[in-house]
Amino acid sequence: MKGVLLAGGTGTRLNPMTKLVNKHLLPVGKYPMIHYAIRKFQQAGIQEVLLVMGKHSAGMYIDYLGGGKDHGVRMTYRVQEEAGGIAQALALAEGFVPDNEKFMVLLGDNLYEDSLAPAVEQFARQPEGAMVMLKEVPDPRRYGVPILHNENILFIEEKPSVPKSNYSVTGIYMYDAGVFDIIRTIRPSQRGELEITDVNNVYAAAGKLTYGVLQGWWTDAGTFSSLQEAGAKLLLSDEGDRR
Ligand code: G1P
Repeated sequence: MKGVLLAGGTGTRLNPMTKLVNKHLLPVGKYPMIHYAIRKFQQAGIQEVLLVMGKHSAGMYIDYLGGGKDHGVRMTYRVQEEAGGIAQALALAEGFVPDNEKFMVLLGDNLYEDSLAPAVEQFARQPEGAMVMLKEVPDPRRYGVPILHNENILFIEEKPSVPKSNYSVTGIYMYDAGVFDIIRTIRPSQRGELEITDVNNVYAAAGKLTYGVLQGWWTDAGTFSSLQEAGAKLLLSDEGDRR
């Protein structure tokens, strides 16, 4: 399975640091944020990785990751010209993923403890469709929130004021190659972005969106406090030392 790592976006909540470098290059524990997602791929046996990045700081990703040899992966890079949403960034992976092949997508600002290997194995057995990883959280209103029915997701509400479950949809997604056709059918949201939740809801409506649940800690490191919290956890765990 190939991997797509999305590291665009402006990171406005982390201003002024993100005026200097892109969010995904900020230090977390001992490493720049992007290091951890690359390692998650590598540990799950995913060695072909496409990094989609913004123009800002693009050279620094290559300085750090290069061809990927030191990180146990093979890197390909693509540039998202302007921040138009996660689904727009994902569209740039068409061509990198061979027709009929399933693949995994990670948002570079999600930091967590679990290995992705069980999720990859589970999705490999799923004949078609998509799968997302969930995490039980105290504040689901900040995220995409799923409505569950047995092993399927019926619908995802993006940042609902009255969440219908205690789960957050994390930035860990797996798709079949049909996702690129779906992206072509969706329209920008009120915030002017192509939303990954709209893409996932097409799979949900077709009864083809399954899920797994993360057991360890998880954070979306979009704010200074979550960044610090994740850094402290990663420094403490031996995660910081293993590749
Ligand atoms: C995005 C998704 C949201 C998801 C979150 C996870 O939100 O739209 O569904 O729960 O990532 O990190 P954003 O961070 O773009 O607001």
